[in-house]
Amino acid sequence: MEIPTKYFEMNQFKKTILITGGAGFIGSHLVRLMVNKYPSYKIINLDKLTYAGNLDNLRDIEHKENYHFIKADICDAQEVNRIFDLYAIDNVIHLAAESHVDRSISNPLEFLQTNVIGTVNLLNAAKNAWVNQNENIFYHVSTDEVYGSLGSEGMFTEKTSYDPRSPYSASKASSDHFVRAYHETYGLNVKISNCSNNYGSHQFPEKLIPLVINNIVHKKPLPIYGKGDNVRDWLHVVDHAEAIDLIFHKGKIGETFNIGGHNERQNIELVKLLIQLVDKKLGREEGDSLSLITYVKDRSGHDQRYAIDASKLENILGWTPRYNVEDGIEETVDWYLSNNEWIDNIVSGDYLNYYKNQYVNR
Ligand code: NAD
Ligand code: DAU
Repeated sequence: MEIPTKYFEMNQFKKTILITGGAGFIGSHLVRLMVNKYPSYKIINLDKLTYAGNLDNLRDIEHKENYHFIKADICDAQEVNRIFDLYAIDNVIHLAAESHVDRSISNPLEFLQTNVIGTVNLLNAAKNAWVNQNENIFYHVSTDEVYGSLGSEGMFTEKTSYDPRSPYSASKASSDHFVRAYHETYGLNVKISNCSNNYGSHQFPEKLIPLVINNIVHKKPLPIYGKGDNVRDWLHVVDHAEAIDLIFHKGKIGETFNIGGHNERQNIELVKLLIQLVDKKLGREEGDSLSLITYVKDRSGHDQRYAIDASKLENILGWTPRYNVEDGIEETVDWYLSNNEWIDNIVSGDYLNYYKNQYVNR
């Protein structure tokens, strides 16, 4: 096997952390944070570059010495093993996944494949590579959706029983179970966090917030599922990345932490806030885009409400979110309005062709 010179350079680093899904929304924010904050760590970003992966998200750090990108599929066990070996991976923060609930309803098998089989491949590679080593950490980034759906009262804690209701959340619940099973059965050093809905820059415009902003700009209908009274608990993506950093370094092995922002909003309330902000910033009449609101058929099995109790993370590790939702959403709107090209490239599909051709091999 040909050993790239990079392999030798890498040995100067204190840790070599494999971040999977680093070209996606949350992954790119986490990669940026880790590369900038820890020059003594080598950050290896492994991403398949599916429709949701976009290397434009990382242009500002891609030249840095402690960053390396690998195009690979976590479902390819042989390739994953090879990467562990070749790059001497000693820690994993695993985010690569199919992440959109609506897509899971039309194609559950893809979610089983990536989110479950892909995770087990990574666990196997870590288990085999880290025999007799005690310092390594396998961190799984998961979702609050594993806990199911709340009524008007209550919050998810780390003790809430799993009750996934969509193919997406079933696949994430299953992967969480595998991660815990590898801790109990093989003694792998694992950590898990379950986070609420993230918002911020670089989110693929199929998700509610970027979709609505883009549609207001282009005066297209704003699809509201059902009555629009479903509630999500919104957290700024940078707050999420900072919580992951903290848990990765300070969280106890084998523990789970919930991450959330105490920012519950009904979907319709959030959409009206976006209309108000975007109309104002585009110099339109107040309320101009309200007429774009279009109530459509509800999502099948639509979870009514999510709310996270993050007190364990706050009390044990001293974490609190930095953003309040109003400021965070306004900053997010500003980012999308001044990054038309980023969103236009995705929506036009040009970026898909571009990257598929550019990164056939490493
Ligand atoms: P995303 O869809 O924006 O990004 C997913 C990334 O994974 C993409 O870059 C994609 O190319 C990559 N990927 C997909 N399949 C792959 C494969 N087989 N091999 C290698 N790479 C692959 O997702 P996101 O919103 O950034 O979510 C990241 C993680 O965080 C997911 O595990 C998700 O379940 C979890 N999560 C998301 C949220 C949220 O609000 N977005 C909240 C809680 C947890
Ligand atoms: O809670 C964490 C989860 O949040 C993550 O695990 C998922 O990866 C992430 O996609 C997100 O899931 P949601 O299904 O909550 O996010 P989404 O943006 O798809 O939808 C948010 C809410 O808005 C939800 O109640 C459905 C509704 N919605 C969504 C879309 C795309 C609409 O009403 N209209 C829409 O067009």
